[in-house]
Amino acid sequence: MIFDRASQAAEFLKNAPTALPHFNAVLVAEPSFFEVAYAINPYMTDPKSGALQQVNKSQAQEQWNALLSVFRSLGLKVVSLPGIQGLPDIVFTANQSFPFWNASTGQYEIILSKMRSPERAQEVPFFERFWKQQGFPVHQLEYSGAFEGNGDAIFSPEHGVVFGGFGPRTDQEVYEELSERFKLKVARLKLCSSDFYHLDTCFSVLSRDVAAIQPQAFSSEGLALLKCFFKTLIEIPYEENKRFFCGNCFSPDGRHVILQSGSPTFLAELKGKGFQVREVETGEFMKSGGSVFCLKLFFPG
Ligand code: ARG
Repeated sequence: MIFDRASQAAEFLKNAPTALPHFNAVLVAEPSFFEVAYAINPYMTDPKSGALQQVNKSQAQEQWNALLSVFRSLGLKVVSLPGIQGLPDIVFTANQSFPFWNASTGQYEIILSKMRSPERAQEVPFFERFWKQQGFPVHQLEYSGAFEGNGDAIFSPEHGVVFGGFGPRTDQEVYEELSERFKLKVARLKLCSSDFYHLDTCFSVLSRDVAAIQPQAFSSEGLALLKCFFKTLIEIPYEENKRFFCGNCFSPDGRHVILQSGSPTFLAELKGKGFQVREVETGEFMKSGGSVFCLKLFFPG
C-alpha cells in the first residue's frame, strides 16, 4: 500500500499496528580509503573554487572512532566492514541496502540498493556478501531504476511503515515493488530540494511521536502526510541544516539523539523536548555530503 497524501493514510492509522521488534545494531565501514574523489552532490565541491573537497584522513579516522564510541556507549552493537580502495563512499553504509520487516515471513530481511551513480554501484556486492554471511534473506529488486537503500527508505518499526523519499537518488516507481512484492506500507515523499538529496538529510524519526524535518525539502502533500504520523514535527532551519546536517541526526532509542555539534536552534529544540543530546564531530564526512545517520545502517543484530 502506498500513501502519497494524508487522506490515504487515515484509514491505516485508525488501526495502527503494534510496534515491531526494534533495531539494536549498527553496520559501519572503516574510513581507511575515505576521500572526496568525485562530486555527486552539492557538498563535495568547494562552493567558492568548485574544486573537490580535501579530506583530512587522520581527522576522518578520529571522528569515526569517536562516533563508534558514542554508538557503543548507548548500548548499540557495532559491526564494522573493512574500507575498500577505490570506493571512498562505502563509509556511508545507510545507502547500499535496506532492512525491512517482511510480514509474510515474520522476520527482518534485506533489499539491495541500485545506486544512481556508477561511482557507487560497486559498493553493493560487499553488502550482499555481508548480509548473506549473517544469514539474512537478501532480495534483488526487479525494478531497474535507482534505489539508494536506507538513505531514502526509512523503515520505522514503531509505525510499521516505510518513509520513502524519492527524487534525486531514488525513483518513485521502486516503492510500487516494495508495496506489491513485499507488502510494505509506504509513505511516499517527494524530495524537492537538491541540497537535501536523500530523505535522511531532511527527515529523522526521533521517537514514535516526534520527527525532525526540514520543511522546504518536502511538497505540501508530503508535509501533510508526515503530520499524520507524528504528533510533533521539529522544524530544522534551512541554513542550519545545510551547515550542520541536523536532518541527518540519529536516535537509536527514542530518548537520545546523536548529531553533528554546533546547531544552535535545533539543539535547543531537542533539549526542550526532553531528548538527551550527544554531539559529535563529522566535519570530514560532511565534505562528502553525509553525517551521523548515513555513516551507519541501523539493523536488528
Ligand atoms: N558522497 C555520498 C553520496 O553522494 C554521501 C552519501 C550520504 N548518504 C546519505 N544517506 N545521506 O552518495
